[in-house]
Amino acid sequence: MTKNILVTGVSQGLGLAIARAVLAQGWTVSGVSRRLSAEYTALQREHGPRARFHAFDLSRTDDVKSELFDKYLPFELPLHGYVNNAAVAYDDIVTNLDAARLRAMYEVNVFAPMMVTKYAIRHMLFNRLAGSIVHISSISVHTGYKGLAMYASTKGALEAFSKNTAREWGERGIRSNCAVAGFMDTAMSGKLTEEQRQWIYNRTALKQVTKLDSVAATTVHLLGEGAASITGQNIFVDSGTI
Ligand SMILES: NC(=O)c1ccc[n+]([C@@H]2O[C@H](COP(=O)([O-])OP(=O)(O)OC[C@H]3O[C@@H](n4cnc5c(N)ncnc54)[C@H](OP(=O)(O)O)[C@@H]3O)[C@@H](O)[C@H]2O)c1
Repeated sequence: MTKNILVTGVSQGLGLAIARAVLAQGWTVSGVSRRLSAEYTALQREHGPRARFHAFDLSRTDDVKSELFDKYLPFELPLHGYVNNAAVAYDDIVTNLDAARLRAMYEVNVFAPMMVTKYAIRHMLFNRLAGSIVHISSISVHTGYKGLAMYASTKGALEAFSKNTAREWGERGIRSNCAVAGFMDTAMSGKLTEEQRQWIYNRTALKQVTKLDSVAATTVHLLGEGAASITGQNIFVDSGTI
């Protein structure tokens, strides 16, 4: 069955890999990020109308309904899945915490996905679809890393939100899960030195970076019928971080 999947943060990194994997299933991506990147434009050239795009700044949480749903994802366009991938990382040690930067991060990483989930579920209910929601979380919630306390707290909030959403909407067939990613090679982790990377990889069983394609494939699995009995779970894709 063909599906329409809302994926946020498609301009680069993991979101781009997820968009590619969703398109490879023959499904449609309704992509969102602030910027239409050259890489996503190339996907549009390859897949035509199945690679949809809408430029939107997710920190505008008050406009989620009017801008994202009323204009881009009206009820007439069925929505089968939502991948909450877009996020920002404000890294620093706790004693340097800046409240304005913390609020800005929560706006994108937590408040926006909660608002999008609200309207995505209403959309699925309206069209009587057993939709699937996948939040991209981070291994930092479970292991802890110096400098990631604020960022990890946003992902911890999502994990709690996902589990409770699963409990609340399971009766209507709507599922919610988290793909808990380990360290991946993207712009977000680009500031790490080689030494820091090696130190992080040494904390994994596989002694290697987490592959974008592995997280993307897991996300696609969670969106599909093969995961029909999986909900309220955190699926770790982290090279076996210990
Ligand atoms: N990289 C890692 O090691 C790692 C590890 C664990 C989990 N994760 C998680 O994996 C996901 C993807 O991260 P990544 O590494 O691929 O990061 P990335 O390369 O920095 O990409 C982030 C994406 O989010 C979009 N975005 C950021 N702010 C936005 C806003 N205000 N409105 C709309 N879109 C926005 C960006 O697009 P625009 O700039 O064009 O808006 C971009 O497409 C995130 O949830 C991240 O927390 C990453």
